[in-house]
Amino acid sequence: MQTIIILDQGSQYTQLIARKVRELNVYCEIHPFNNIPKFGEDVVGVILSGSPFSVNDINSPQPDLWFKGKLPVLGICYGAQYMVKICGGKVERSTKREYGRAIISSIDQTSPLMKGIDVGSQVWASHGDTIEKLPADFNIICSTDNVINAGYKIANEDTYAIQFHPEVHHSIDGQILLRNFLVDICGCRQDWTSDNFVTTTVNNLTELLRNDKVVLGLSGGVDSSVAAMLLNEAIGKNLNCIFVDNGLLRKDEFETVLESYKGMGLNVTGVDAKQMFYDALKGLKDPEQKRKAIGKTFIDVFDKEASKISGVKWLAQGTIYPDVIESCSVKGPSATIKSHHNVGGLPDYMKLKIVEPLRSLFKDEVRRVGKVIGLKEDLLARHPFPGPGLAIRILSDVTEEKVRILQKVDSIFIEGLKKEGLYNKVWQAGAMLLPVQSVGVMGDERTYENVVALRAVESVDGMTADWSHLPYEFLANISNSIINNVKGVNRVCYDISSKPPATIEWE
Ligand code: XMP
Repeated sequence: MQTIIILDQGSQYTQLIARKVRELNVYCEIHPFNNIPKFGEDVVGVILSGSPFSVNDINSPQPDLWFKGKLPVLGICYGAQYMVKICGGKVERSTKREYGRAIISSIDQTSPLMKGIDVGSQVWASHGDTIEKLPADFNIICSTDNVINAGYKIANEDTYAIQFHPEVHHSIDGQILLRNFLVDICGCRQDWTSDNFVTTTVNNLTELLRNDKVVLGLSGGVDSSVAAMLLNEAIGKNLNCIFVDNGLLRKDEFETVLESYKGMGLNVTGVDAKQMFYDALKGLKDPEQKRKAIGKTFIDVFDKEASKISGVKWLAQGTIYPDVIESCSVKGPSATIKSHHNVGGLPDYMKLKIVEPLRSLFKDEVRRVGKVIGLKEDLLARHPFPGPGLAIRILSDVTEEKVRILQKVDSIFIEGLKKEGLYNKVWQAGAMLLPVQSVGVMGDERTYENVVALRAVESVDGMTADWSHLPYEFLANISNSIINNVKGVNRVCYDISSKPPATIEWE
């Protein structure tokens, strides 16, 4: 597979570059600047990311660019400034503002990188340094209203660089520029497609696993479901899926999702472990303790079920690319969504080898692959749902009674969203049961019951989020419906906090 290497120098936009490259149907991998892998024949070009450092900082990234001059290179921002610096040019602190919008004011029309981009095109810059002087064999290919050396090419090399960010949405012709680099300069065939991914992955899995048995924990989410579909295609009944009812799922979710899985031809065992989870959670109020108890119980249940499958050799996981990047990023593993994942691994004595068919995919690619391989639309379009489920939406301790109340509230909200055509417009929605009682009146009677909070957010990847501006009329109907139908709830609030500073879940 033709591969583009993206050298990560710590920029906040590195993953975005990779996603934009993948959108152009070109396969790429991110590697930290201080651990560049050996390039195989398949590597056809390199992109140098930006960085929060100045090239003049002592601790700044200083990768060995041994491939420069041998392979096409595109330097972005820090990447552009770094090549200038090591080749004898001058990079200085910028005196003019070079953050935000800039307009391309001149273009070398003969440059293949700039093909199809016109003067006047808006680009997005974000740098404190600027290139003051280019080395002798560096030629300007574009300038902006503020920056003369906005883009350059090194003579007699396929080395290009720009001091703006083509990957961000505000660089209007950014995708054209990236396409020019990938297709016209690197010669990429743009054959990284979901169809191709499915065919090659299924073939590779068949070859790797042969007649071995594999066990996989299904969660009802998109990643584990797509991983299971690929493995099912490759090894059929040798794939043993386990779907655990932890008593913390949405109303009727266990039954409906289990049926769906069976309908898809998966060899799946449903395990009712509700009581074990409720027992493990009894009296626990601290969110982290709750998460730990759930994680441990999950492993116990999974281990017990897996040990019933004789001769199983592999554990399949739905790990996706952002998890892989996180664990080897320049900044080190950071506390993000993925650190929440509960299935920390199985006990060593099981000695299972790990297979991760989705390791190279971003979330949106997983969805596309799911579509190609025939995952049902209702499973594909599901909102993310946390592994510890309703336990982290029931603030304080968890009881069966509280789970029942929250399941009813959640179901009215989610069904309402679906009925009004709003479900696919929000990224994630759910309800929280607060450890707070408040006074109300119902008929002639005074009540003293629970408060619930509804939460619906817009997001791309869960890292940042804004609250969804759901119509007032809709919220009013849902609130009425909850209070009239769910015994034990007499007040409904709507969460209007964004992330940051709040988080999506309340615990
Ligand atoms: P936060 O609350 O961190 O949530 O803003 C971001 C995304 O992660 C999900 N989330 C979890 N997922 N186990 C999970 O598997 C967890 O403990 C967990 N906590 C939060 C959350 O639902 C949202 O999609």
